[in-house]
Amino acid sequence: MKTTTTMSNNNLSFWQRIIKSLTKANELGQEEDIMTDHDYDGIKELDNVLPPWWLYGFYITIIISIFYYTQVFWNSEKYSQSEEYATAVANGKAEVEQYKKDHPELYDDANLVALTDAADIQKGKELFASKTCTACHLADGGGSIGPNLTDENWILGGGFKNIFNTIAKGGRPGKGMIAWESTISQKERQQLTSYILTLQGTTPANPKAPEGDVWKDGDN
Ligand code: HEC
Repeated sequence: MKTTTTMSNNNLSFWQRIIKSLTKANELGQEEDIMTDHDYDGIKELDNVLPPWWLYGFYITIIISIFYYTQVFWNSEKYSQSEEYATAVANGKAEVEQYKKDHPELYDDANLVALTDAADIQKGKELFASKTCTACHLADGGGSIGPNLTDENWILGGGFKNIFNTIAKGGRPGKGMIAWESTISQKERQQLTSYILTLQGTTPANPKAPEGDVWKDGDN
């Protein structure tokens, strides 16, 4: 004869009753009621019900998934991921354009001029070495693979604007002078150009023969 220790609901506190209704846990001592006849080397299995708290969560996810599915795949007139993406990209581009407009000093090359500050020239000189320009133009600008930068002859045009442009966009295809605008910032290119201009008229150790045309202020 089995002894049951059933607690009547009346003896339970409010909180215990909530727990009980959310778990529907079988009471201890009553395992035999829900014992299955599965027996694995003496290990037996109880047929517990799924706890209601878990089941409700499961139902809620099913309801949400139906709502989500219909919104995303059937309601594409109102909502489409590709449209949302396109809108976000367009907004991003507009923001970039606006930022460029608001900061012409950072992005508009047209208004740039040569810097004369000693600190900027010094920075340009450091960049000339650190950005490997010296490998082809030599530290004193005398030129080796690249042309002499100290003479008044320029292949691609002299003066601030042309030199700045050459550094940004590179030389003629296949000559070895790449476009640096993606790896060297506008400010740094401005410093480099300003530094290169200070090389004009200096005497390098092994000057490369002049290439290109003599450039005078005002030419373009
Ligand atoms: C791999 C070698 C190489 C490197 C590195 C290099 N250049 Fe050049 N550079 C050249 C060559 C070659 C030319 C000539 C391009 C042409 O004929 O179109 C040139 C041209 C130039 C010119 C124009 C010269 C003219 O006569 O019009 C400038 C200015 C210049 N380079 C600056 C730089 C700066 C600044 C750097 C570093 C950020 C640099 N170069 C890095 C090879 C190089």
